[in-house]
Amino acid sequence: MDSIIVRGNGPLKGQIPIAGAKNACLTLMPATLLSEEPLTLTNAPRLSDIKTMSQLLSSLGAEVTSLQDGKVLAMSSHDINNHVADYDIVRKMRASNLVLGPMLARLGHAVVSLPGGCAIGARPMDLHIFGLEKLGAEIELKDGYLHAKAPNGLKGAVIELSFASVGATENILMAATLAKGTTVIKNAAREPEIVDLATCLRAMGAQIEGDGTSDITVQGVDRLHGATHPVVTDRIELGTFMLAPAFCGGEVELLGGRMDLVESFVAKLHEAGIDVEETDKGLKVARKNGRVKAVDVTTEPFPGFPTDLQAQFMAMMCTAEGTSVLEEKIFENRFMHAPELVRMGANIEVHGGTATVHGVETLKGAPVMATDLRASVSLILAGLAAEGETVVSRVYHLDRGYERVEEKLSNVGAHIERVSE
Ligand code: EPU
Repeated sequence: MDSIIVRGNGPLKGQIPIAGAKNACLTLMPATLLSEEPLTLTNAPRLSDIKTMSQLLSSLGAEVTSLQDGKVLAMSSHDINNHVADYDIVRKMRASNLVLGPMLARLGHAVVSLPGGCAIGARPMDLHIFGLEKLGAEIELKDGYLHAKAPNGLKGAVIELSFASVGATENILMAATLAKGTTVIKNAAREPEIVDLATCLRAMGAQIEGDGTSDITVQGVDRLHGATHPVVTDRIELGTFMLAPAFCGGEVELLGGRMDLVESFVAKLHEAGIDVEETDKGLKVARKNGRVKAVDVTTEPFPGFPTDLQAQFMAMMCTAEGTSVLEEKIFENRFMHAPELVRMGANIEVHGGTATVHGVETLKGAPVMATDLRASVSLILAGLAAEGETVVSRVYHLDRGYERVEEKLSNVGAHIERVSE
């Protein structure tokens, strides 16, 4: 298993290119199952989660070809010869459950393993099931698998979600494109990844309105056709690398960064005393002098502060001036980075979904362990701002969501290297 070694060595300077969004690409890829014609994605990120989704789609009979060093994914679902998403793949990555809606809509049946819990929470699929049942599907849980069928096809319906779940909105939206009649998804998720999915589906011939708002309306069509679609910028990779100069000092330009993707996050950076400005090529972040100020944060669905940036923000708050309170409202167990940060000298108390961080002058390098994707990158950021050497082990989590992280950070002057054991 690989580890990453980082050494704190002062301010960072330069440019970091931001990739296409993992969480957009993972929902755009299953959209290929909706059509017999090819779907090509450009600006795809090079990540292990994308390989896992490719394996899953291939196991169903789709063809997935990776071109231009992985930046282009050419997919064709002309012959879907298997409708079972196996536990061996689904357990590796929860986003595998996004094949359920498209398979059901196109084939009239699908068998998808229930993913089970993961490190950050239980993450059930009740809202996905609720929405698909409203569209007329019959869904049964047998031997750990969801058996879904719609022998007479899906029918449009009004579906009001009790929580604006990203995955449930995506599964229902994809299924509704081929349902008969009109579907309205109320209290839909408003994340940019939903807008990106709707944009791609429209390019494939779907009739969708209201994406990016809480009410999405879909007019079902008989079939979807092929399309080429660029994956939206990864707002979480963007926010993560914006924190590098904010935390370590210096000035870094994030190429391809867009303010509209990270507004609530940027508001918190401003409160903490960090400069963020728009440039011709993206966003520039600078911290020129002094400690950052402690800021309180509550995670919320988009457009609120993203849960996927909470761990990284907490790392920066460890050396802020004052006390900050971080409330995690999306996942019930997403503070596992806190005890690791404490090993580096941070002063953090966790009670349920609230973490109180009392800022200290400096963190000290230490051996630490990554428990999930965002936790692992928060420990790398902490290591870059700490005195001495930090060894982050179990970094396979990192490779799921950050492409070439060592290269991107060392290009702006960070001391970071990967070692294989
Ligand atoms: N939930 C339910 N029932 C459901 C679905 C969700 O109770 O049927 C709960 C979950 O247990 C969780 C909350 O609702 O507590 C939010 O879940 P949501 O469905 O919105 O999230 P997701 O689709 O499972 C996506 C991202 C996550 C990101 C969340 C929230 C992908 C592949 N994953 O997950 O990304 O944290 O939205 O924004 O899009 C990550 O990239 O590190 C990551 C975890």
